[in-house]
Amino acid sequence: MKDAQPRVTRLSEYRPPDFLVDTVELRFELGDTSTLVRSRLALRRNPAVDNLDAGLQLNGQGLVLESLSIDGRRLQPGEFRHEDDLLRIASVPAQFVLESEVRIEPHKNTALEGLYRSRGMFCTQCEPEGFRRITFFPDRPDVLARFTTEIVAPREGFPVLLSNGNETARGELPDGRHWVRWEDPFPKPSYLFALVAGDLASLDDSFVTRSGREVALRIFVEAKDLDKCAFGMEALKQSMRWDEEVYGREYDLDIFMIVAVDDFNMGAMENKGLNVFNTSCVLAHQDITTDAGFLRIAGIVAHEYFHNWSGNRVTCRDWFQLSLKEGFTVFRDAQFSADTGASVVRRIENVALLRTAQFAEDGGPMAHPVRPDSYLEINNFYTLTVYEKGAELVRMIRELIGADTFRRGSDLYFERHDGQAVTTEDFVRAMEDASGRDLGQFRLWYTQAGTPHLAFRDDYDPSTGSYRLHVSQSCPPTPGQPYKAPMHIPVRLGLVGSAGEISFASGGGVPATEQVLELTQAESTFVFHGIPERPVPSLLRGFSAPVKSSFDYSSSDLERLMRLDSDGFARWDAGQTLALRVLQARVAGQGAAGADAGLEGAFRALLRDEAADPATVAQMLVLPAETYLGELAELIDPLAIHAARQAERRALAASLRSELLACYRRLAPDADYRVDPDQVGRRSLRNACLHYLSLLGDDECRALAREQYLTAVNMTDRLAALTALVQGDPDPAAGGAPAILRDFEQRWRKEALALNLWFSVQAQRPHADTLDDVRALLSHPDFELRNPNRVRALIGAFCSANAPGFHRVDGAGYRFLGEQVALLDPMNPQVAARLLAPLTRWRRHAPLHAEAMRSTLESLRDLPALSPDCFEVVSKSLAVPGA
Ligand code: TRP
Ligand code: ZN
Repeated sequence: MKDAQPRVTRLSEYRPPDFLVDTVELRFELGDTSTLVRSRLALRRNPAVDNLDAGLQLNGQGLVLESLSIDGRRLQPGEFRHEDDLLRIASVPAQFVLESEVRIEPHKNTALEGLYRSRGMFCTQCEPEGFRRITFFPDRPDVLARFTTEIVAPREGFPVLLSNGNETARGELPDGRHWVRWEDPFPKPSYLFALVAGDLASLDDSFVTRSGREVALRIFVEAKDLDKCAFGMEALKQSMRWDEEVYGREYDLDIFMIVAVDDFNMGAMENKGLNVFNTSCVLAHQDITTDAGFLRIAGIVAHEYFHNWSGNRVTCRDWFQLSLKEGFTVFRDAQFSADTGASVVRRIENVALLRTAQFAEDGGPMAHPVRPDSYLEINNFYTLTVYEKGAELVRMIRELIGADTFRRGSDLYFERHDGQAVTTEDFVRAMEDASGRDLGQFRLWYTQAGTPHLAFRDDYDPSTGSYRLHVSQSCPPTPGQPYKAPMHIPVRLGLVGSAGEISFASGGGVPATEQVLELTQAESTFVFHGIPERPVPSLLRGFSAPVKSSFDYSSSDLERLMRLDSDGFARWDAGQTLALRVLQARVAGQGAAGADAGLEGAFRALLRDEAADPATVAQMLVLPAETYLGELAELIDPLAIHAARQAERRALAASLRSELLACYRRLAPDADYRVDPDQVGRRSLRNACLHYLSLLGDDECRALAREQYLTAVNMTDRLAALTALVQGDPDPAAGGAPAILRDFEQRWRKEALALNLWFSVQAQRPHADTLDDVRALLSHPDFELRNPNRVRALIGAFCSANAPGFHRVDGAGYRFLGEQVALLDPMNPQVAARLLAPLTRWRRHAPLHAEAMRSTLESLRDLPALSPDCFEVVSKSLAVPGA
């Protein structure tokens, strides 16, 4: 809390644990008013630590201690101290058994960390520090123990009792209760512990591993959701096969379970053998799930499954190493998604996320390296930097050492560190050892925060045919890091001539049309010989490094790349650069009345090209996001950016009306709904056309959207139509949006996940008045501040994706967020702190906005009992840079 200022945890202060735990035996007696947790820990001094008389210190938060004993002898009050979330026992033997009994109150747990209740069921979330809310334990990832868990609960209401590992016994008690025992043979850190108890149905299947072992697969949900599990199950089986084929990793228990819970702070959790998922990240059905939702679910199912090796078998030494498991696992799930779908489109989506959200984080007051070196609240470090930029680091290593060598590196890593708790350094060293390459300078990517900038220049000498590319790299200051050393950056390059790719040789290599240049200096020059004409450089193909870059392309250069570049990502990126310039000119007040001629021409060609891949065309038609424009601006004027982007979109829609209509009609559904790349691509382009058309607000386009809404047989098309009517139409009331919104509400009142979409669509209507709608929706009978998905759907969506509403000039949007965070923080600090993200970057905004944002942050800072989570975000946001 605030008066006892939260303590800083530093990587430099890491010490190995004084005590190790060999086995943990837990027994839970679950009850409506309290739960009794008995634990039996076999402890011994860590032989690697030279500290023979260190006392025992265990974490424990909010636990009511009932009894404590060592080797069967009950401890008297003077023999231990229990304060500040720690249990201290001054003198203990070298090896002993510690037994404890504590009481906890899961029904009062609104933070959703530790053991809590969600819609009646009991469930746990222990990563990163939730286990200490369940029992006394060295709650740190470098203490690995073998767990046995017994769960006792009334049979009525809790027929299903689950924990990690294999079920080994069960029985009945005379009082209507029953019990089940689970044993997990793999030593694991406490953050991977899980328990679930409830009245659940399951979809059951099985998988035969490549070595011929049969694994039972079970997805547990409320009975009403049983028809929404098939897609997740398929994704799970695909992931299991993929990890065998691509990484040689086989599953290791006899059973793999997934449980869906409605109240969950994040997406999902990789507990050993018992993954717990946010319902929004596993339940899928075409009636309530969009195409984007399906793809996201497949990616998250894969992500959590892949953690079984990258995270569980090889885990983190401490939480500074979080990217060891998260960066690597995001990289693995992105590879999986690319392999099983439209790879270029997946890459475009990833890059768009990096450029908008991760770059913003890297440029704000919470900027931190992929391996941070200090934190107040570790929950605040489950960030885009650790996850997404962390994945890019793994990707760059693969780019530098090659795919085959990378596989040898990952084999070596898993083999060398199986059963250990290790560091990002161990990961990089395995890659070095497998490749023989020195990644010394590359390690800076783990320790230096901020997004590097690459400035490219070139010159061409027609008389000798030599082409020179000059690059200078720099990286802006970030909190605590005023100066940055040059980094090791892979730049995948092609040269595009007037008729297509030019093949070239550099440094005596074999001629090719592509090469990975390696930057290591602040300034470097690369020379290419035998180039017959002045080429246009295709830089950072596939987004080979997470950087910003600049090169003085002419518009015709960009049009050439869009047409002739062999790299799909680079073609898209050239279009984005073209569009960026148009929008930046508009923001600066230099916009023409109509659409930009270059963009209009490019879009017209795309819409008419019936041979082009619809999914890619759909991506190319999306103008760069407002947040990316803000990120690249000197000073962010969110309203001017929104207005410019909106004006360009309207102008494009007006000029391309007939092409948009033709494309929309051409792509009408011609088969039953399926989630395959072809259908997903067609729907995405058709709905992109519908959205452009809706901006015109004319009767024909409105009728089209209403018709699509009413006849849709899947949520993708239904939601796209609703979004067009609510958010696209300049006058939603005239277009019929209110009636359609009522229809949607009636239809989906009972489906929480669909209703979340309904809240979000309204929260994102780009208008200053939306704030009033959002306030009204807070009193909707189905709005609940205790449910994180609802909070994110309404408050989160409004504050992060509605510039005209959130950034109102009167500051009411900022004050609204401040009020809601103040209400939520005492209940669920983790979710409250995340909601604050849009305010953290106040210094980058134009003064009018910056002042109002700051004053909201100040009012939060002055609250009497701010959580450490929000305190960290607020205080770092208000801190003077460089001071
Ligand atoms: N390890 C989880 C993942 O797969 C992240 C996670 C789930 C988490 N729930 C959490 C992190 C709660 C912190 C708190 O990425
Ligand atoms: Zn993860």
